[in-house]
Amino acid sequence: MKKVFGILALCMMILSSCQTKQTEKNFIEENTDFAAKQISLEFKKMDSLGVVLNPRTLHNDGTVRYNKPALWTSGFFPGSLWYLYELTGEDLWKQRAEKLTKTIEQMQYSTRTHDVGFVIYCSFGNGYRLAHIPEYKQIIINAANSLTTRFRPHIGCIQSWSAKKGWQAKRGWQCPVIIDNMMNLELLFEASKLSGDNTYRDIAVKHADLTIKNHYRKDYSSYHVVDYDSVNGEMRSGCTAQGFADHSAWARGQAWGLYGYTMCYRETKDPKYLDQAKHIASFILNHPRLPKDLVPYWDFDCTDANKNYRDASAAAVTTSALYELSTYVEGEEAEKLKGAADKILESLASPSYRAELGANHNFLLMHSVGSIPHNNEVDVPLNYADYYFLEALVRKRAIEKL
Ligand code: GLY
Repeated sequence: MKKVFGILALCMMILSSCQTKQTEKNFIEENTDFAAKQISLEFKKMDSLGVVLNPRTLHNDGTVRYNKPALWTSGFFPGSLWYLYELTGEDLWKQRAEKLTKTIEQMQYSTRTHDVGFVIYCSFGNGYRLAHIPEYKQIIINAANSLTTRFRPHIGCIQSWSAKKGWQAKRGWQCPVIIDNMMNLELLFEASKLSGDNTYRDIAVKHADLTIKNHYRKDYSSYHVVDYDSVNGEMRSGCTAQGFADHSAWARGQAWGLYGYTMCYRETKDPKYLDQAKHIASFILNHPRLPKDLVPYWDFDCTDANKNYRDASAAAVTTSALYELSTYVEGEEAEKLKGAADKILESLASPSYRAELGANHNFLLMHSVGSIPHNNEVDVPLNYADYYFLEALVRKRAIEKL
């Protein structure tokens, strides 16, 4: 009798695990299907207008703001098309991805912005990984060369912004470095693997180490901006540009750091980066002001009730990073991180954040924030929220082995 019960219990367990797998599969397929249909509407628009469009967000008047190649966000839409190719396996998405990727090719030579990392890695980097297009390899290496021109050896970091032009010039900075810069290191690691030249990787490691030292506070929250003395290399100040206050925890900045150190661990296997990523994850997930659906307000320390917007883009970057981080730890710790990633992704895929088909100007997610202090892109769709949402789907599918 005992044996029969044992066999029955085992059958029930297998059945329940099959059902869970099917539910996860349906979730990924449904979201992929939605994304493919929604983004196809953008292509329909392009066909009817006879132009190529690279959507970024909405202007304050509600019209769509499109990317020029030089904008830091120009690689995300091409990157989303590569993720749709990966998720669907359909050649149509590869063709569309190649077409859009081509439009930002000249950015490989841009030394004017550290964001050449985002621009080229999300587009050409994914394209090379998925389609092995031979020309992409040199473009990635060229872009890494461009990025290394911004490395300041006497400080040990890549300079993010120029302190001499634009709104940044008014801040009195000498060598401003933003936490977002952690994301651009992925291009450098890739360039070292492709070229066999470790110079890129060494720069990435130096930048990551200095950022741990100076951007992070005792509680593992991070400054948005750290300014360095351009002569003696000392830290001059820790402050913000897009956050609520100098000492606050700007939500997307915390997400960039989490993603960046998880990626640094992947590329180096240095346990200090894993440790850093785990602490950042813990800061985010245990924060008393993190809402129940795990989609953060744009800044964890915003005390202005009139500005309490959620930031779906921060949530999308966080969920994607947590999926990866969960694969570098074991047991209960892995389950917790993966569980949190699942919960965030479910929230983003719910009607509270995911648009209806044909709405939201063909973007996937609603309710992101670009920069509240600049009154720019407040409670809008953002193409990078969509990009990391799709990346999270890809990562979830790989983890679930679906
Ligand atoms: N890298 C700019 C931002 O996160 O808004």
